[in-house]
Amino acid sequence: MDLHGLIDVLPKAELHLHIEGTLEPQMMLDLAKRNGVTLAYDTVNEIAAAYDFSNLQDFLDLYYQGMSVLIHERDFYDLTMAYLEKVHGQGVRHVEIFFDPQAHMERGIAFETALGGITTALEDAGKHMEMTSKLIMCFLRHLDEDDAFKALECACKHKEHIYAVGLDSSEAGRPPELFSRVFKAARDEGFKAVAHAGEEGPAAYVETALDDLQVNRVDHGNRAFDDPALIARMVREQMPLTMCPLSNLRLKGISDLRQHPIKKALDAGLLATVNSDDPSYFGGYVNENYKAVADAVGLDAGDVIKLAKNSVVASFVDAGRKQELLDKIESQVGRLT
Ligand code: ADE
Ligand code: ZN
Repeated sequence: MDLHGLIDVLPKAELHLHIEGTLEPQMMLDLAKRNGVTLAYDTVNEIAAAYDFSNLQDFLDLYYQGMSVLIHERDFYDLTMAYLEKVHGQGVRHVEIFFDPQAHMERGIAFETALGGITTALEDAGKHMEMTSKLIMCFLRHLDEDDAFKALECACKHKEHIYAVGLDSSEAGRPPELFSRVFKAARDEGFKAVAHAGEEGPAAYVETALDDLQVNRVDHGNRAFDDPALIARMVREQMPLTMCPLSNLRLKGISDLRQHPIKKALDAGLLATVNSDDPSYFGGYVNENYKAVADAVGLDAGDVIKLAKNSVVASFVDAGRKQELLDKIESQVGRLT
């Protein structure tokens, strides 16, 4: 079996996925119609043509506009279920999904509306297909600490549905340490912590995500490679990295996928994983990310199997389910060799 065939059949976890970033152009148009929302576009082609980004902020401007069609609990349900069905077909058997409640509350959508739709879809998927999940609430770093504390207060009422907090949105000039207090409060409430760091920001932001936010995982982390001592520390601590190759390419973090550091990360012994970030905006779900980066940097079957195993090891799922997923990877590999 060739490498792409292996990628298709390997069981895997996805750990870096913004549910609002799975809003496909056709669904955006359908929901706009269903909810009477006016968009700047009339066709799928017009939307696709607008997805030509120079940097993270360029993308975020369209991402926040796009989510204006998500109004009712049903919309969040449909969005989440469409994603889960899609990636189940790609071998994904565990997902850890981000959502951005502040972006919804800011436009008058209740925290519980977004949360209800997403969690009901996650629960239904768990009943109808093999798919376990965790939900991660992200704080928006372009907003202030007070706003983040308000989101945390909401999350504290729904601890049974929210497993971890994260940090996303515009990174430049917004270092992790601005959110030290709210992360400390979240950790004291029992939430695990992750943060986007080193996507556009410097290696120093990865370091303060570790030291000040005390994250359990770093999202992206590409710029950490500018600091060899930091990489050595992350190898020593087996700090997971959730990397997103097509996102990095489309947001111009790299100018060519051959520059992607995933192979360097694996060879250094980092607990690196491959994920899709915002698949509808960046031209590929998780398997398209695996395939594109594997072709570009020359990953072999051993690397791809390692990435699938890393995705399970780096997840927040309990030890029993972790072992079950690792065994499924092993038995799939066994069937092929
Ligand atoms: N929100 C959605 N996608 C994001 C990304 N790639 N970086 C930061 N914030 C985001
Ligand atoms: Zn992201």
